[in-house]
Amino acid sequence: MTATLIDGNALAKRIRAEVATRAAALTARGHQPGLAVVLVGEDPASQVYVRNKVKACEDNGLYSSLDRYPADLTESDLLARIDELNRDPKINGILVQLPLPKHIDSHKVLEAIAPEKDVDGFHVSNAGALMTGAPLFRPCTPYGCMKMLESVEFPLRGAVAVVIGASNIVGKPMAMMLLQAGATVTICNSKTRDLAAHTRNADVIVAAVGKRNIVTADMVKPGAAVIDVGMNRDDQGKLCGDVDFQGVKDVAGFITPVPGGVGPMTITMLLVNTIEAAERALG
Ligand code: GUN
Repeated sequence: MTATLIDGNALAKRIRAEVATRAAALTARGHQPGLAVVLVGEDPASQVYVRNKVKACEDNGLYSSLDRYPADLTESDLLARIDELNRDPKINGILVQLPLPKHIDSHKVLEAIAPEKDVDGFHVSNAGALMTGAPLFRPCTPYGCMKMLESVEFPLRGAVAVVIGASNIVGKPMAMMLLQAGATVTICNSKTRDLAAHTRNADVIVAAVGKRNIVTADMVKPGAAVIDVGMNRDDQGKLCGDVDFQGVKDVAGFITPVPGGVGPMTITMLLVNTIEAAERALG
């Protein structure tokens, strides 16, 4: 192993301690920060994610509510609930877990969340503001990836960065944040021809496609930082990322593990966004 491991659990623990202090200060002023989590349907992975989000709130002194709805909830009922949460003063952040069932228009739902409570950073006004530089909230997963790079003082100004994956949740906002930090950014996707030609030139690789071993050692420039956003299962059913960790760890300069890398940071940045929403609401 030549790469330095970027330990998401350790970094998350440090940031969560600060979150807990800020939450306690708000609570002492009579305004415990609150996050509303909304889950529609029975997707097993989503159930695990929302449980972990609610638990993280409890562990760090934030109030949380969890609404669980059956998969046949109507779009108008969901919009009505969001309207209530927008007006609820106990709630500073609203998170609607994605994906939503097919009969619900996700875009319409995300646009219904008040931008000042949009702790996922998915509302068009926050996504648009990310492009011009000053959103109220940054999407949690790429925000966590930036914190991981910052934690090892990885120089991004002038660096070549390759983001693999172009989702609204990770790839696109990740590219914007790297660009803003001064990197030269390429966004690749699952159809990119000769992916290795791009990655071999990169000082930073962020893999976020949900495909095991999409990044192998031969595709990585020695010393590069490799951030693995993937969440897959290997043949033994063990959790693994998009990066061939065993091979890449001997070439990269920095690498994030799965599990224990980006995962804990995503929830941590959700807590940070919720605290910021609560602090702003108090003025
Ligand atoms: N589904 C997968 N990742 C996310 C996320 O960061 N936020 C929400 N709301 N849903 C997701």
